[in-house]
Amino acid sequence: MPLTPFLSRYWDAPGTWTLDAYRRHDGYQAVSKALRMPPDEVIQTVKDAGLRGRGGAGFPTGMKWGFIPQGPEKDGTVKPHYLVVNADESEPGTCKDIPLMLATPHALVEGVIIAAYAIRASHAFIYVRGEVVPVLRRLQAAVAEAYEAGYLGRDILGSGYDLELIVHAGAGAYICGEETALLDSLEGRRGQPRLRPPFPAVAGLYACPTVVNNVESIASVPPIILNGIDWFRSMGTEKSPGFTLYSLSGHVTRPGQYEAPLGITLRELLDYAGGIRAGHKLKFWTPGGSSTPIFTEEHLDVALDYEGCSAAGSMLGTKALQIFDDTTCVVRAVLRWTEFYAHESCGKCTPCREGTYWLVQILERLENGLGTEADLDKLLDVSDNILGKSFCALGDGAASPIMSSIKYFRDEYLAHLPDGCPFDPYKSTLMAE
Ligand code: NAI
Ligand code: SF4
Repeated sequence: MPLTPFLSRYWDAPGTWTLDAYRRHDGYQAVSKALRMPPDEVIQTVKDAGLRGRGGAGFPTGMKWGFIPQGPEKDGTVKPHYLVVNADESEPGTCKDIPLMLATPHALVEGVIIAAYAIRASHAFIYVRGEVVPVLRRLQAAVAEAYEAGYLGRDILGSGYDLELIVHAGAGAYICGEETALLDSLEGRRGQPRLRPPFPAVAGLYACPTVVNNVESIASVPPIILNGIDWFRSMGTEKSPGFTLYSLSGHVTRPGQYEAPLGITLRELLDYAGGIRAGHKLKFWTPGGSSTPIFTEEHLDVALDYEGCSAAGSMLGTKALQIFDDTTCVVRAVLRWTEFYAHESCGKCTPCREGTYWLVQILERLENGLGTEADLDKLLDVSDNILGKSFCALGDGAASPIMSSIKYFRDEYLAHLPDGCPFDPYKSTLMAE
C-alpha cells in the first residue's frame, strides 16, 4: 500500500508554519468553499466522507457534529455552541498532533473555522499542553496571523460569519486529555472526568452543546471539503476511510510519522521505516499507544484500522506504534507504563486510584526478584477489577497492557522468579534510559 502524505506533505519545506507557506499549498481555499455552503451541507459532507475521530476512539466526526441541537431548547432558550480542540496529546508513544501543530498550525486553524461554522459556534478553543511551549507559541502566532488576514474575527471573508478562537494552555495533567476533564479544566476547575451521558454534544462547556474533537480530526477536514467525499473514500477501507498519521517509535531504523491509508499493516509500514534495528527481531508492539493491548510478531499483518485491530484483540487508538525488539524486557516496559498511569490517575474512582498503585508495587516486586508465581494471578485480578469498572478510560488503559503482556509473555514473567529481570538493561537503547 503506498504512503499518502496529505497532512504531512510539505513538512520538510522551509517555514511551513507561516501563513504564506500554508497559502502556497492550497491553504484557506477550503474555508472559502465551506463558507459558501450551508452549515448542514458541511456536516453532511464530513458524515458522507466517513471521517472518524483520530483521537483514539474513532467516533464518526460528522455524526458528532450532527448531535449539536439546532434551534431553541425545550424551554425556549437558545444556548451558545462551542468547538473545543483537544490538543492535550500526552499518552506514552502518542506523538502525532504535536508535530502537526508545529509544522502546519494553519491546517488546524482552517479546520477549526470550518468545523465551528458547521456547528454554528461563534467561539472555539484549542486546549494545548502548556509544557509544550514551542507548540503554544506557534499556535498563538498562527492564530494572530489568521486574525490579521481576516480568517478569524468578524465577518470572515465577507461571509457574515464571526468566530473568536482562543488558544488555552493546560497545566500538564494527562487526565485533562479526557474530554470532560478537559472541559472542567477549561472552565477553571480541577480537571476530573464528568459522568457521561450527558455527552458534551448535549451539555459540554458551561453546560452548553459542545463538540470536542482531536487535532488530527479537525486538520483532516479542509482536504475533505476541498477534494470531496469520493477522493477521501478512495483511500482506506469502507468502514475506516481515508488517510491518517501513524507514529513509529522505538527499535525501528527510521522512526517518525508515516501518513498512509487506514488498513495498512505494520509489516508494510516497517518496509518504509527500514525495518527493526539491525541485528534484532521484533518482540512486541503497541498499535495505539500504551493504553491499548499489545501485539506481537504474529500481528504484523493485522489491518491497522478500527475493525482490524479490534478483531485481533486490541484497538487502533492513537496509531502510536511503539516497537520493541528482542532486547526488551516486557515486564520492565509494562512497569514503566503502569508507573505513568499510577502517577496520572486523578484519584476520583477507587479501582483506578488504588489499583494502579498496587499494580506498580507488584510489577516492581517481580522486576526486582522479590515476586512469586501468585503475583501473576494478583496482577490479573487487580487488572480485572480496574478494566470496565473505572470511571473513565484511563483505568482501562492501565490494565490493558498488563493483561495482554501476561497473555503473550507469561513465560517471561515466570523467568523473573526468583532472581528478577533476566535482561541486560544496557543492551536495549530504550530500557537503558
Ligand atoms: P468514547 O468512545 O467514550 O467517546 C469518543 C467520542 O465520541 C467522545 O467525544 C464522545 O463525547 C463521543 N460520543 C460517544 N458516544 C456518544 C453519544 N452516544 N452521543 C454523543 N457523543 C458520543 O471515548 P473516550 O473515552 O472519549 O476516549 C477514549 C479514547 O481516547 C481511547 O480510544 C484512547 O485511544 C484515546 N486516548 C487518546 C490519548 C491521546 O493522547 N490522544 C490519550 C489517552 C487515550
Ligand atoms: Fe480518575 Fe482513574 Fe477514575 Fe479516570 S479511572 S476517573 S483517571 S481515578
